[in-house]
Amino acid sequence: MLKGEKIVLRPLKESDWSKTISWRNDLMIKKLAMMHPFPITEMVEKQWYEKMLASTDPGVVYFTITDNEDQPVGFISLTRISYTHRNCYLGIVIGEPEARGRGYGYEAVTLISDYAFNKLNLRKITVEVVEINKSALALYEKLGFIEEGRMKKQFYSDGAFLDVFIMSLSGTEG
Ligand SMILES: CC(C)(COP(=O)(O)OP(=O)(O)OC[C@H]1O[C@@H](n2cnc3c(N)ncnc32)[C@H](O)[C@@H]1OP(=O)(O)O)[C@@H](O)C(=O)NCCC(=O)NCCS
Repeated sequence: MLKGEKIVLRPLKESDWSKTISWRNDLMIKKLAMMHPFPITEMVEKQWYEKMLASTDPGVVYFTITDNEDQPVGFISLTRISYTHRNCYLGIVIGEPEARGRGYGYEAVTLISDYAFNKLNLRKITVEVVEINKSALALYEKLGFIEEGRMKKQFYSDGAFLDVFIMSLSGTEG
């Protein structure tokens, strides 16, 4: 469990599925976080939780983001963790609309970056951000992520092919 001032990153709980399924079915979140556009059924979401709750895969770390009353407000992950190259990919969703813009995303990424660098001994975190996601681009810039590249017309949604930025944050060993 990683504790901040406004939020906590805690392990997944089975009961979280009833919140996360609505976020994973939100078409705007799907677009902003570049998830696949298919609907997610209760069975699929519950099966994902069953798999993740039993997982000991060291290449993937998921946390539920909660407020200080243990109410889930989002989720955050490190995936494709490589202990050889000491890098990983970041994903984050603040799912509850009223929870956005309160500093939760900033604190969640700060906490998981510290965890990645100082507990897992990783040295670099990469995130891919679709060009229309201005709030995420601003968040990562504020956190010190730098642009490494831009994939042209990489992501299709609503009749347009959109560019995707590759951004990264390096630990002190860089
Ligand atoms: C992007 C997201 C994670 C940001 O989290 P958040 O909790 O709303 O952001 P915070 O309140 O911590 O804001 C931190 C910084 O992010 C930027 N930011 C956040 N919301 C913003 C907005 N609506 N417009 C512009 N910048 C914004 C700002 O730089 C802000 O710093 P400031 O308050 O000093 O201006 C969240 O909006 C979200 O989950 N969106 C939907 C899914 C998504 O886009 N996931 C990321 C995929 S890469």
